[in-house]
Amino acid sequence: MARILTGIQSTNIPHLGNIIGAMLPAIEMSKNKENECLFFIADLHSLTSIKDATFRKNSTYAVAAAWIALGFDIDKNLLYRQSNITAVCELNWYLNCFTPFPMLANAHSFKDKSDRLSDVNAGLFTYPVLMAADILLYDASIVPVGKDQIQHLEITRDIALKFNNTYGDTFIIPEARIDEQVMIVPGTDGQKMSKSYNNFINIFLPEKELKKSVMGIITDAKSLEEPKNPDSCNVFKLYQLLGTKSQTEELREKYLTGNFGYGHAKTALFELIMEKFNQARSNYSELIDDTSLLETHLNKGEEKAKIISSEVITRVRGKLGLSIL
Ligand code: TRP
Repeated sequence: MARILTGIQSTNIPHLGNIIGAMLPAIEMSKNKENECLFFIADLHSLTSIKDATFRKNSTYAVAAAWIALGFDIDKNLLYRQSNITAVCELNWYLNCFTPFPMLANAHSFKDKSDRLSDVNAGLFTYPVLMAADILLYDASIVPVGKDQIQHLEITRDIALKFNNTYGDTFIIPEARIDEQVMIVPGTDGQKMSKSYNNFINIFLPEKELKKSVMGIITDAKSLEEPKNPDSCNVFKLYQLLGTKSQTEELREKYLTGNFGYGHAKTALFELIMEKFNQARSNYSELIDDTSLLETHLNKGEEKAKIISSEVITRVRGKLGLSIL
């Protein structure tokens, strides 16, 4: 059985780009009987950038509700809050002491953030060590991540190897799983869909607002009559990521034939989103209004996560010559 682990920061409600690019493929993987999936909400990592406590709490619930609403089976797998398993902070400290300073100083995500952000805190610097603790605390063997996280996974592997070389086999050396097939999901302005570009589509919005954000996708100024190039159109690119082959081909024909305006294309995309996410939208709105039910769901995952993590932390304490609690 493969133990698969991944985390999403609680920095906002997951958008269409997160859903198509990361969450749906991860949920697909979690359906395999051979896999046990640990998906967690990285609320401790969100502290590096977000200071508003209410926003964090709401985002944490939003991420949890989205995972469940999209079909993640929390009876077979684990969904939990990173911060509710406090052993991760303990392991974080141990791992800090096995992490060469230059390795963190040279991490490109840190360099990038420290150039860009005004708040360059030590948490940003040691971010990859906490990520290593997230992974190693649960003996995870596979970690699905986006391309931007590859270096963080290499750092995790280096730290684990260093520890194992010193104390003998302790940690499982995890592997990153990068889905090469996942296309970049374009945002409403054509750049990669991202919270930081404010070009995202939130599929959990009420119908009217969702429609408004789909209708706001930027296109060129071709008239209704003119034939259009589907492959350079953001609306088509999004449609293609969600539609079946035959739906997509049908829309392609309409673009090429002309007498089909961008307004028509956007309406088609909106209708497809409504159809594809109909169930997820209604699940989500029920869950987000019932935080006590969400708490129950999360606590179930957290109980299971504590069992796995306490075994690992006991193993580590033993190796380090610390007493067993
Ligand atoms: N750093 C990841 C991101 O921003 C989130 C994350 C935190 C994570 N801990 C993790 C991902 C452990 C995978 C495994 O996308």
